[in-house]
Amino acid sequence: MSELDEKIPNNVHLSQDPKLRRALEKWQPNFIEWWMDMGPEGFQTDEIYLRTAVSVEPDGWAHFDYTRMPEYRWGIFLAPSAGDRRIGFGDLEGQPAWQSVPGEFRTQLRRLIVTQGDTEPASVEQQRRLGKTAPSVYDLRNLFQVNVEEGRHLWAMVYLLHSYFGRDGREEAEGLLERRSGSPDKPRLLGAFNVPCDDWLNFYMFTMFTDRDGKFQLSALSESGFDPLSRTCRFMLTEEAFHMSVGDTGVGRIVERTAQLLRDGKKDVRREGAIDLPTIQKYLNFWFSISLDLFGGEVSTNAAQFFAAGLKGRHKEENYADHKALDGVYPMDLMENGKLTRSEVPLRNAMNEVLRDAYVEDCQKGVDRWNRILAQHELSDRLSLPDRRFNRQIGAFAGGRFDPSGGMISEESWQSEADAWLPTAADRAYLASLMKPVYQPGKIANWIAPPPSGVKGKPFDFEYVRKA
Ligand SMILES: [Fe+2]
Ligand SMILES: [Fe+2]
Repeated sequence: MSELDEKIPNNVHLSQDPKLRRALEKWQPNFIEWWMDMGPEGFQTDEIYLRTAVSVEPDGWAHFDYTRMPEYRWGIFLAPSAGDRRIGFGDLEGQPAWQSVPGEFRTQLRRLIVTQGDTEPASVEQQRRLGKTAPSVYDLRNLFQVNVEEGRHLWAMVYLLHSYFGRDGREEAEGLLERRSGSPDKPRLLGAFNVPCDDWLNFYMFTMFTDRDGKFQLSALSESGFDPLSRTCRFMLTEEAFHMSVGDTGVGRIVERTAQLLRDGKKDVRREGAIDLPTIQKYLNFWFSISLDLFGGEVSTNAAQFFAAGLKGRHKEENYADHKALDGVYPMDLMENGKLTRSEVPLRNAMNEVLRDAYVEDCQKGVDRWNRILAQHELSDRLSLPDRRFNRQIGAFAGGRFDPSGGMISEESWQSEADAWLPTAADRAYLASLMKPVYQPGKIANWIAPPPSGVKGKPFDFEYVRKA
């Protein structure tokens, strides 16, 4: 089934489609050029202990070995076709899923794919300097694992563009290599993907909260009536789980280290060269709030159209009884004349909020895990998610000011309090001062606890990165 030894490993019978193969082989050198320019800085000639997707079988899809990153086998893998799959929601519920792009939804589908695709290279760009300050070779390897897989996700989206969208698809595929995270002229499409991610607390918060947005977007797209998109996203989700675990356990290990110090009576954690809980909370507030923006406005006609057309569903659509969502309403507080006012939004127009609900619930579980670490150390401090109105740039609450518990506050209060809620320049400078690389296997930076175990049965002190 899989064409593993091909120049572009794949399970989509690329060898039987010479035109598509030529187009992708033309894109490939541009991708490598982008990777060398904008991928991890340094380490490109080192051998990294990486997993590579080699099939889509649930047990055995990944192969672990030393690889130089530019030689990583970025492949195109779609989850198996489900036979006569039907559209699971919206106006066309029950009709056969599409194997090609329906003309009337072409523009919307392309936009969904390009928006998703753009986040993949963006995150690699945001993380490109982190290797220089890795707290351990174990973490260094995990960073690169995330990076190469985001590269593969880009490949997956480019495959869809090339395969199903003709000339404008090819142009969009070029565009994905041309935009740059944080660039004033050619920024990436979404806000959180233009924000610097230049210390490791940022990195773990990013993989915890922003990759988790990715999980829910992919989940909603895996419901799509456009079957190739659904199958692509379903397989990407298997890799995405690891990215989130890097963030979840990374923050957990920082909390663990800080909790050890606090339990030992070292109240001034910074003096010990570790990260104090208020700073962790501020970074959490920042990444959670800008990741909430990625779900879009609370009330959205786009979201309603995507749902009606069967392009983008809900997380685990099969768990809902009614897949048309024509009658329901979603009650929510919205801003009206500068005041929070209870409103009833037609359910289809509230689909962004429905997906955001599932995301918030998932994030809360992660925070609960971190709080269990604090409790195990007999500390009464707790971390918490800020209210979803806090620090929003997009949607109903973007115009107002809200404190972390969601209360509306004046601009003056915001100005005087914001430094207690979001990372300040001084916090970032403190984090930067901690970022000193530790490249000796088995050793780890002082501000983070080691993981309980290594990668794929290997110990923590395994040589995950071999110098060239
Ligand atoms: Fe991704
Ligand atoms: Fe990811």
